[in-house]
Amino acid sequence: MTENQSKVQELAQKSFARNDPTGWFEELYSTAQGKESAIPWAKLKVNPDLATWIEKQNLLGQGKNALVVGCGLGDDAEALAKLGFGVTGFDISSTAIAWCQQRFPNSEVNYLVDDLLQPTKVNQHKFDFILESYTLQALPSSVRPQGMKTISQLIAPGGRLLVICRGRDLDEPATELPFPLTKAELAYFEALGLKQIEFEDYLKQEETYTRRFRIEYTLANEK
Ligand SMILES: C[S@@+](CC[C@H](N)C(=O)[O-])C[C@H]1O[C@@H](n2cnc3c(N)ncnc32)[C@H](O)[C@@H]1O
Repeated sequence: MTENQSKVQELAQKSFARNDPTGWFEELYSTAQGKESAIPWAKLKVNPDLATWIEKQNLLGQGKNALVVGCGLGDDAEALAKLGFGVTGFDISSTAIAWCQQRFPNSEVNYLVDDLLQPTKVNQHKFDFILESYTLQALPSSVRPQGMKTISQLIAPGGRLLVICRGRDLDEPATELPFPLTKAELAYFEALGLKQIEFEDYLKQEETYTRRFRIEYTLANEK
């Protein structure tokens, strides 16, 4: 484990022990002091699993709006804006949002501080496309259903949700961050009124191979 990864585990464990499932994100971003290398998930480029999906779908955003959940340093939000979507990117960390605004001063993206678990701003709208990549897996399982519920309520009629996350089987433990999701946990989206369009389960080569799920949903009551 790298020094950065150990720091993340430590900050998160302390935050969880205080019964604060999300406080560690702002601590991590603010103590990074503008160094992207201190943020383990910040790759400063669009997520390749989003990029390949966009290409496969020939995704176009003209006249549509999109929401990026836990947008981090903004690269995925910027990629969707380039496709023509009117994009809102939100994050619980005010430092992350200020960082996005600094990195992309001429951005068309509406960057907002909001909390997926208790939204006050993003829930004023519905979205044609929602991207959730790697935020649910950074939340403890006790609050993940609340996050999934919020996401499902923000999809516009005819809209789509793309979830990208680490994956595991039920009998595999998830003891440290990021917590890979199981298919059973993700099935809660269907209980919330969504329908799976495609479920991809694959290995991704990083430092080692890691299992990923990439799932596309729509509202269940649509054809
Ligand atoms: C693991 S990072 C992933 C960032 C980005 N989505 C990516 O794919 O690189 C999770 C992000 O979600 C944000 N986040 C965590 N809990 C959140 C919440 N309850 N509401 C909004 N954002 C949250 C964190 O601050 C962090 O930027």
